[in-house]
Amino acid sequence: MNRYDGVKVLLTGAASGIGRATAHRLAAEGAAVYAVDRSADGLAETAAGAPGPGTVATRVADVTDEPAVIAAVADAADTLGGIDVLVNVAGVHKTTPIGTLSVADLTWIFNVNLVGTALFCREALKHLPDGTGVIITTSSLSATQGNPYMTAYSASKGAVLAFSLSLAAELSARRIRVVPISPGTVDTPLTRADMFPKGTDLSYFARIVAPFGVADPAQIASVIAFAGSSDAGYLTGAELRVDGGSHL
Ligand SMILES: NC(=O)c1ccc[n+]([C@@H]2O[C@H](COP(=O)([O-])OP(=O)(O)OC[C@H]3O[C@@H](n4cnc5c(N)ncnc54)[C@H](O)[C@@H]3O)[C@@H](O)[C@H]2O)c1
Repeated sequence: MNRYDGVKVLLTGAASGIGRATAHRLAAEGAAVYAVDRSADGLAETAAGAPGPGTVATRVADVTDEPAVIAAVADAADTLGGIDVLVNVAGVHKTTPIGTLSVADLTWIFNVNLVGTALFCREALKHLPDGTGVIITTSSLSATQGNPYMTAYSASKGAVLAFSLSLAAELSARRIRVVPISPGTVDTPLTRADMFPKGTDLSYFARIVAPFGVADPAQIASVIAFAGSSDAGYLTGAELRVDGGSHL
């Protein structure tokens, strides 16, 4: 008996990093996963590498494109025969030193990280079952811990966290759980692309490097798998910090 046998999961950001690891983890536990991302190539790789006994269907969509999100969620419900769990992982990061912070970067980061998450929640809630439905969101350690050159990103992840806690309260009457996950530093293309300004004080890095080191995406996926499962049936509206002790 697998924990996700017969469970239908809609997952965003599935073409890379934490999202791909989550697709693989949930498929390994038996889930029928509908994987969304803007990257067709990345999605194809995720699907090709997915283990059984579950399945991974894919759809290319930009999470900030409202009509595309509406169509993707409707198709996910059709394809899977419903949606039990929504996992929002799609996100972007860019270091933005305050002196050069642009409206374009702020808008882009908030659109993907917050608006994309909000749109998927709104649409998936048309299908999630009362009593057992689950929404996972991806916030970040940066939501509650100051990190240099990350004002825009951190603010967007703080917004995701606040959105998730209020959504949990709003949905409690329907007994739909909402769980924001806040990873620390994870080894993915997103972190590898991170460029700190030349001459950055090295002590800044101590703030984002955890006592347990950098996480493998699978170490975040396993917590997402727990939070989305019935093992976490009494867990809602509580942030799960998966940060290897960064906060200590
Ligand atoms: N890597 C870390 O250290 C870390 C730490 C805390 C939180 N997070 C969060 O975890 C999530 C996943 O990050 P990751 O490290 O796996 O990054 P990643 O870059 O490996 O994966 C992000 C995925 O989101 C997709 N995406 C981006 N914009 C999109 C859009 N507009 N529409 C559809 N898909 C889009 C990308 O194509 C990519 O597949 C993000 O929300 C990120 O902010 C990451």
